[in-house]
Amino acid sequence: MHKVIFDTDPGIDDAMALLFLAASPEVELIGITTTFGNGTIETTTRNALYLAERFGITAPVAQGAGVPLVGEAGEPPTFVHGHNGLGDIDLPPSLTRTADPRPAHRLIIDLVRAHPGEVEIIAVGRMTNLALALREDPGIVPLVKQVVIMGGAFGIGGVLGNVTPAAEANIWGDPLAADEVTAAAWPLVMAGLDVTQRTRMPTAYLRALAEEAGEAGRFIWEISRFYEDFHRQGGVDSIYVHDSSAVAYLLDPTLFETRRGAIRVITEGLAFGQTVQKPAGTGFPPSAWDHRPEHLICTSVDSDRLKRLYADTLRQAR
Ligand code: BDR
Ligand code: CA
Repeated sequence: MHKVIFDTDPGIDDAMALLFLAASPEVELIGITTTFGNGTIETTTRNALYLAERFGITAPVAQGAGVPLVGEAGEPPTFVHGHNGLGDIDLPPSLTRTADPRPAHRLIIDLVRAHPGEVEIIAVGRMTNLALALREDPGIVPLVKQVVIMGGAFGIGGVLGNVTPAAEANIWGDPLAADEVTAAAWPLVMAGLDVTQRTRMPTAYLRALAEEAGEAGRFIWEISRFYEDFHRQGGVDSIYVHDSSAVAYLLDPTLFETRRGAIRVITEGLAFGQTVQKPAGTGFPPSAWDHRPEHLICTSVDSDRLKRLYADTLRQAR
């Protein structure tokens, strides 16, 4: 069993990843922590609580950072995830579930300390909560089993960013946090756009989920209508599988090929938010990558097998 904390900014693909986790018989979801990003922190927390309530997810939901470590949050990308962050489907005016009283980074620390060596953190939004947890209690680093991040774009096969040519959204939203999180010597892997844009769910796949994967499948169909339109406007006739790729890595790392090396995040200038890995064993003169821990980045993915895992997991849980 994987004991998982899901750090998220729901978000359409975040919701799809959360339902993937909730459906997996190999996962014990022990905490959901929210961050700003796809919506304001109020919106993403409301959405996390809504998803937990609607799908009977009992893990505590804790509200996290509403702004990056430095600077402002900026306007949420309503053109990607809708004004309500869930593709503008109808949402109930009020909820029964309420947030845990602790801030997200405190819940992360408490859960890691309660289960030393067991907790795996999947982070699919800005890295702010993780950075705050590290600042408050650096002693958690050796106690975390693994951190799996959806974020970054490492230029594998020419992949660019999605906010600027250099930067992917989760990292661009708080590059300093990402640089601090990748400076920590915990086992860490990043699934960036290099792999998440290579796995795409076409309409027919999503329609099959609606027909075969119960309420979760029908819900995914509903929220993905907006997301599909956004992709279509960008000339892509299917949806990218961003956040669920991080979940898939946790469930079956053999779906991916990886490369080890020190990671830095550019925190100022034109390439603000760019992620750059120095592959292990490459020789360079002294640089800002020295004395940093080596982490994995995903360099390729078996997308057909990943999509099968996603659909099978949701189907068997219906
Ligand atoms: C990432 O940004 C958000 O829009 C998605 O939820 C995903 O986590 C992709 O760049
Ligand atoms: Ca996300």
